[in-house]
Amino acid sequence: MNALCFIGRSTMRPSARFLISRTSKSFLGSAKQHLRSNRTHSSLTNAGRPAPATIITPRPPLLAAGFNTYRLMSTVFHPGFAPPPIAFANRGSFGVASRVVVVRQQHSTSVETRVNEGNFERIYVQNGNAAAAKPLVVERIDKDENIREVVSVEEGDLNLRNPEGIEIVSPRKEESDIEKEAWKLLNDAVVRYCGSPVGTVAANDPGDKTPLNYDQVFIRDFVPSALAFLLRGEGEIVRNFLLHTLQLQSWEKTVDCYSPGQGLMPASFKVSTVTLDGDKTEEVLDPDFGESAIGRVAPVDSGLWWIIMLRAYGKITGDYTLQERVDVQTGIKLVLNLCLADGFDMFPSLLVTDGSCMIDRRMGIHGHPLEIQALFYSALRCGREMLAVNDGSKNLVRTINNRLSALSFHIREYYWVDMKKMNEIYRYKTEEYSLDATNKFNIYPEQIPLWLMDWIPEEGGYLIGNLQPAHMDFRFFTLGNLWSVISSLSTPKQNEAILNLIEGKWNDIVGHMPLKICYPALENEEWRIITGSDPKNTPWSYHNGGSWPTLLWQFTLACIKTGRIELARKAVSMAESKLVADRWAEYYDTRNGKFIGKQARLYQTWTIAGFLTSKVLLENPEKASLLFWEEDYELLEMCVCALSKSGRKKCSRVAAKSQILV
Ligand code: GLC
Repeated sequence: MNALCFIGRSTMRPSARFLISRTSKSFLGSAKQHLRSNRTHSSLTNAGRPAPATIITPRPPLLAAGFNTYRLMSTVFHPGFAPPPIAFANRGSFGVASRVVVVRQQHSTSVETRVNEGNFERIYVQNGNAAAAKPLVVERIDKDENIREVVSVEEGDLNLRNPEGIEIVSPRKEESDIEKEAWKLLNDAVVRYCGSPVGTVAANDPGDKTPLNYDQVFIRDFVPSALAFLLRGEGEIVRNFLLHTLQLQSWEKTVDCYSPGQGLMPASFKVSTVTLDGDKTEEVLDPDFGESAIGRVAPVDSGLWWIIMLRAYGKITGDYTLQERVDVQTGIKLVLNLCLADGFDMFPSLLVTDGSCMIDRRMGIHGHPLEIQALFYSALRCGREMLAVNDGSKNLVRTINNRLSALSFHIREYYWVDMKKMNEIYRYKTEEYSLDATNKFNIYPEQIPLWLMDWIPEEGGYLIGNLQPAHMDFRFFTLGNLWSVISSLSTPKQNEAILNLIEGKWNDIVGHMPLKICYPALENEEWRIITGSDPKNTPWSYHNGGSWPTLLWQFTLACIKTGRIELARKAVSMAESKLVADRWAEYYDTRNGKFIGKQARLYQTWTIAGFLTSKVLLENPEKASLLFWEEDYELLEMCVCALSKSGRKKCSRVAAKSQILV
């Protein structure tokens, strides 16, 4: 039976940018076959737009199937964007990269290269045997300087060594039974598209008769899976995931005839099989941009996670060719352009609707929720690092830099609370009309909740959940705080204080199962008004103060970064003793996370993957540095420069006289 595979859904039209077609038989076949099948399919693209170019990329090593097989990928050179150059904004020692796109025929010595405007590389196989895993020869020809350099590279080395020189090896020689079970479950959760792994389902409970959309690949849920796979040396699934979701980005998506902005990534996707005439079937990638999701929520975090994952893929595998591809560069730009688009907003933080992130139901987090700001900040930093700087991107890079500096100031200054700040707020004057008002957002001190006065420890502090005019959401949101630590959105001192708070309030935030999604829960009238009487989000359940073991991996990263690894060990070992018996539950209920959540799914993939990623990181803490960011002093300086150049006499940044910038 022939199986045709392409991405689509009946109600959506494919854009010209991406289209993959391959017959399952020819999947490992010759390049010629691939080229032919792709050409046939490209006739489906919109008239007048360029058809996809075909690229065959080397398959990452350490994978189950043959080492030297090649996969068909399609890409297109987007009319709006110039081909990327060879300089990268912020890559440190790995800064210069020649672009290379290789079309390689399996049984021939002949080599085809795609030439970049400036420099190019030619890759060919010595002795004419592409099937043998022998050294690749990379001939680097620098057109400008007329330099010719021939480098012999072991193919495995292309992906296995990263610029930091850390060798990626299978993480552990001996795994406990629990870990073995977890790896097996993670493998069982893998979703295949046309025979290739492309993601993991959200939950894989055989006893669940109403999986809703938990049988789909969620972008955010796949992040810990991706890291677990990458840290184990398995890059293919992550690479496929990144490329396929990139293709989904370009689809026209509509909710009641309204199309959200270009660049949006779906919340999730599934692989559907559609029967055609005769005995033919086709596999289709079917994305959900929120148009089927409960509450029709916008997946703002998806694109941000996608960028973060792309960077992690490069860092861990050392394979930077993926992020250098023209279509991938375009994808980064589309996500960032969408986030950076001008609107009415007066704040540098990103304005979003309720339910636009991990908390994807109404929980009163619309506006400028911390979780989104932390992801936005990291995605901007990733973009700055990965974007090729050329005439087509230099304005974007400038915008990114300005936004990064303004955003970090805004969050560090206005979202931060500790005892000192609380006391300031407690004594705030209100209704101040002036440029140098102390109480800029007109916060009424009566807003300080009673629980907070006694809760915050002397040495601790945290970033509040949200900030709007006359509104501070004082709830502690764990993911936003952890990700601020990881991305260095918060200062080194603040990072330490956040960890102090978690340690000091262990029973509240970690309790019987790490970690509480937010603290405290909304109760009574607040619950009724803010959640809309949501029976799934009752006090201390699900998003409303439930405990989510998937947050372990972010906690582990934050602990390693701040030198508090013992805290992560304690949390992981507590989770480890319960997760198997509790069949890898999605979340836990009650004030201290004692019970498995009322409606929790079992065999929840990101619970499993979060645990595995934490274990691997604890065993190899040096690898954590590939996944977090240090303080960027250049950005801080940039902030000062921008201020001194600004025409305004009274800049609020100066007036704030912040003590917390350094
Ligand atoms: C729930 C969670 C969301 C998650 C999804 C799949 O909707 O709120 O964060 O991505 O389940 O696990």
